[in-house]
Amino acid sequence: MPIYPPEPFRIKVTEPIRLIPPAAREAALKEAGYNLFFIKAEDIFIDLLTDSGTGAMSQEQWSAVMRGDESYAGARSYHRLKNAVEDIFGFKYFVPTHQGRAAENILSACLIKAGQYVPSNMHFDTTDANIRARGGRPTNLVIDEAFDPDVLHPFKGNMDISKLIAFINKVGAANIPFGMVTVTNNAGGGQPVSMENLKTTAEVYHSNGIPFFIDAARYAENCFFIKEREHGYAQLPIKDIAHEMFALADGMTMSAKKDAIVNIGGLLCMNDEKVFEKVKNELILREGFPTYGGLAGRDLEAMAVGLYEGIDESYLSYRLGQTAYLSGCINEAGIPTIQPAGGHAVYLNAAAVLPHIPQSEFPGQALCVELFREGAIRGVEIGSVMFALPDPETGKIVYPKLELLRLAIPRRTYTQSHMDYVAETLKRIKDRAPSIYGYKFTYAPELLRHFTAKFQPL
Ligand code: F0G
Repeated sequence: MPIYPPEPFRIKVTEPIRLIPPAAREAALKEAGYNLFFIKAEDIFIDLLTDSGTGAMSQEQWSAVMRGDESYAGARSYHRLKNAVEDIFGFKYFVPTHQGRAAENILSACLIKAGQYVPSNMHFDTTDANIRARGGRPTNLVIDEAFDPDVLHPFKGNMDISKLIAFINKVGAANIPFGMVTVTNNAGGGQPVSMENLKTTAEVYHSNGIPFFIDAARYAENCFFIKEREHGYAQLPIKDIAHEMFALADGMTMSAKKDAIVNIGGLLCMNDEKVFEKVKNELILREGFPTYGGLAGRDLEAMAVGLYEGIDESYLSYRLGQTAYLSGCINEAGIPTIQPAGGHAVYLNAAAVLPHIPQSEFPGQALCVELFREGAIRGVEIGSVMFALPDPETGKIVYPKLELLRLAIPRRTYTQSHMDYVAETLKRIKDRAPSIYGYKFTYAPELLRHFTAKFQPL
């Protein structure tokens, strides 16, 4: 295996974690209805549920927290964040939000009319749900390679341009209030989108008069992949690549809990003044005054600093290296993962580990439960629990193409020996895979059901 760059930081503050005994894990699973969202975090040894808001802030960020200006309007902290947002993203207008989905909600509320379509490479589940909540129809048009876990493609998150053109012709540009692209493509394996593909996507949207919004949750990781993999970018600083990317778009939504390395926060940016007027009113209703948008002044400060740390190249090469390292160790243990490794997470092909469990019995969830049972590690299913939904016309359940278990790596939080422990635990599970069974729902809400569903083993 290649040698990846070591952590470009040393540890100044520690937070204890403990491994509870097997019987206590079994009891916790039962009590949680086999949904890992209901397990007490202190009963988890290595928490790879999400990379969202779970990263470690730097000494500079904690220092900035102390500079937080908590004025209701026009706070100094807002202006610091504004400078960073303008410098990195370059949009004319922006508002802070309390997290990414709040930005999605506000954008959807302002732009979508019932029955309209919003295409993307792949929407994340909160984006999908926010579009649906306004009567819209989210549509995923990623390239087919995204659905083949083994195929090696440098930009597996790319939009399928011919699918996009055919889609616009079919539903009509007038029925598309805006189009999106998610960078990196979380729902499809944390895979990047190339600059070339972003350019063509922007051209297609714009030639049809459709505004283009980027879901920028992991834009910095995407920019680093562009630097490493796309011709002509190797010498460019990440900030320049980001400028080129965002100059293609009319706006963006962002969960700052990812690449801005903060525990809470989001952004909604745009160039259209009329849209900004609507956004501000909706923001005041739902989040807060436009200079704080549901956040404290100290959160704005931490974000302003974190935005720069998130585009630091020594950080990004360590970050993507750690993900590739975990992916390599898991593959060495004989478990297939989406290839190549994504930016923020390793996606285990649960259908390949548990081929005897049908999609209707949730192989991804089964693997997720076993990982806790075996090693008190928490991941998240990204498969039928999350995405199998009835077709609005026929009512028949449409199953997703992949059944995955995602192990998302919090930023600057776990070390290489934690990653080794995860891979060793998975190896033990692999050895007893044929004896693992599936699950059925005992409760499932209509939207975003993986958060609160309860299960029973079959
Ligand atoms: N967009 C993408 C691509 C995301 O991955 C997420 C969140 C959001 C939007 C919503 O942002 O959580 O701040 O409201 N992803 C987290 C995850 C939850 O675990 O992947 P949020």
